[in-house]
Amino acid sequence: MCGIVGYVGTRDAASIVFDALCRLEYRGYDSAGIAVLDSSGICTAKRKGRLAELSPLVKTLPRAGQAIGHTRWATHGAPSDINSHPHCDCTGDIVLVHNGIIENHRELRERLIAGGHVMKTEVDTEVVAHLIEEKYRGDLAAAVAEAARELEGAMAIAVIHRGEPGRIVAYREKSPLIIGLGEGENFLASDIPAILPYTRKFLALNDGEIGVITEEGVAVYRLEKGSGANGLVKVGDRQPMVVDLEPEAAEKGGFDHFMLKEIFEQPEALMKAVSGRIRDGRVKFEEGEFGFSDEDVRALNKVYLLGCGTAYHACLVGKHLIERLAGIPAEAVLASEFRYMEPLIPERTLVIAVSQSGETLDTLAAVREAKERGAWRTLAVVNQPLSSLTREVDDVLYQRAGPEISVASTKAYTTQLVCLAMVACHMGFVRGRISEDQARAFGQELRNLPEKALGALEAAGLMERLAVEIAKEEDVFFIGRGADYLAVMEGQLKLKEISYIHAEAYAAGELKHGTLALIAPGVPVIACLMDPELAPKTASNVMEVKARGGWVVAIGSQECLNQLQLGEKDVLVTVPDVNPLISPVVSVIAMQLLAYYVARERGTDIDKPRNLAKSVTVE
Ligand code: M6R
Repeated sequence: MCGIVGYVGTRDAASIVFDALCRLEYRGYDSAGIAVLDSSGICTAKRKGRLAELSPLVKTLPRAGQAIGHTRWATHGAPSDINSHPHCDCTGDIVLVHNGIIENHRELRERLIAGGHVMKTEVDTEVVAHLIEEKYRGDLAAAVAEAARELEGAMAIAVIHRGEPGRIVAYREKSPLIIGLGEGENFLASDIPAILPYTRKFLALNDGEIGVITEEGVAVYRLEKGSGANGLVKVGDRQPMVVDLEPEAAEKGGFDHFMLKEIFEQPEALMKAVSGRIRDGRVKFEEGEFGFSDEDVRALNKVYLLGCGTAYHACLVGKHLIERLAGIPAEAVLASEFRYMEPLIPERTLVIAVSQSGETLDTLAAVREAKERGAWRTLAVVNQPLSSLTREVDDVLYQRAGPEISVASTKAYTTQLVCLAMVACHMGFVRGRISEDQARAFGQELRNLPEKALGALEAAGLMERLAVEIAKEEDVFFIGRGADYLAVMEGQLKLKEISYIHAEAYAAGELKHGTLALIAPGVPVIACLMDPELAPKTASNVMEVKARGGWVVAIGSQECLNQLQLGEKDVLVTVPDVNPLISPVVSVIAMQLLAYYVARERGTDIDKPRNLAKSVTVE
């Protein structure tokens, strides 16, 4: 995930910024860079790869008191020296770093190029430097404000100008940025851990705010249309917050575990996953990430989806989405089993490999097998840039979830679902299976998911209380129908892998074909009900459980839960209502939270559960 650092003061800025970037290494990155401003101008050093590779270049930078730096996690443009931040305008006078995604970068790029700007990269950030150049009339903050009004998407930006030494201008919109306050020096960072050794006093910028940071102080302005000079309104003194966290706790953003932090990062991750890919209401992939022409999409005969563990659960939802929205026969297969089933690969078969790490050996082997057997095209839905899988396939669709450190996959799963949903929706529209209006409505559903995920996170308190009881159990059953069945498969995996409780997921209608024999008084059953059409049937299955004395926790939308008649001990967990096709994105969040709190109650090693690894590179 990208990181930003800035420093203005009297110390060696390049060394401080480099040190601060090293403190963000745990978040993952593929390239890094630093720009220093001294009396002779701006010097930049940037490099693809680890910070260790940037280090020798940093030593050549001037010793001066002002610098900005960046670690990049590629989204637009492959990781390379030239694509690394900082980026500059035509003159080299304006230099900036940026986190996030500029959704309208294409339109802005075309306009700026038509106006005579020459760009050196495909990176969306470079467009911002040129846009600020276009607006610059001797006041950097005013130019940033004017540019910000034209930018769409999520962004945190730090800019310096050769003609305005001793000043960093920062802008935040939907991407975190904090200012660290020192004595005779001030700092800027996307994340507190970066600058925690230097200060414990912070000011957080809010969305739509510009910070002007100098050695002596900090001024914060709010961007408002039509008020004040350039629409900048000075924000009154804001009380700094004092952060009393140890660096390790700060890396976890104040959460006790990476898993909980990553669960709570889902609204942001989902927003990034769709950002720039749903335009004018429709799914439109960015250049170079979905290399299929409309003709190719229409020619497809079959889709295989391959993955392991959580990624396989995402494939199951992907199959469901592709068949329903695009009308193409699709099959989700465990990558570890693919080879042994001697798969039949009809002509013009697309193979979609899903993997957070992009390093899972079983998935890589399955893709090779599919290619040998004549798969027509291969596409990876992957989170880790430049991973092995990205080199094996024809096309890559990045999940943009940011690094997932906890072994238990959370935000990787939900962003995989959204990526697959975008693929299915696009294919369905191109093949005429869904109308333009339906495609737009579905696109809007996907855009609404971050907010719905936020709503689902409200279940945290209830799940924490419920966990005290579930943690005493040794067997837990999960049931659901349709997409809810697919969601509970992921829910049970979460519970078993981190709490070590035996958990099983069943299609609700299957209970009576065997498993009901295990339902005795007090046995907990987690039921998921997100689809109003299927809810009455699942409700009957819940009654079968109740009739045998089972204890029910029902997770679902209000409309579905209204169909249940439960007892005193049973628990209802309401999550936001959402299109049932994509509902696992929302319902699974409640199950992730339950798994987390149960594991915490049982005192397990949540981020590194026993016997498991984050990246499984053995067969
Ligand atoms: O990196 P991948 O997505 O290919 O990993 C696949 C599985 O090993 C992974 O999803 C695993 O099941 C998770 N730890 C479950 O939380």
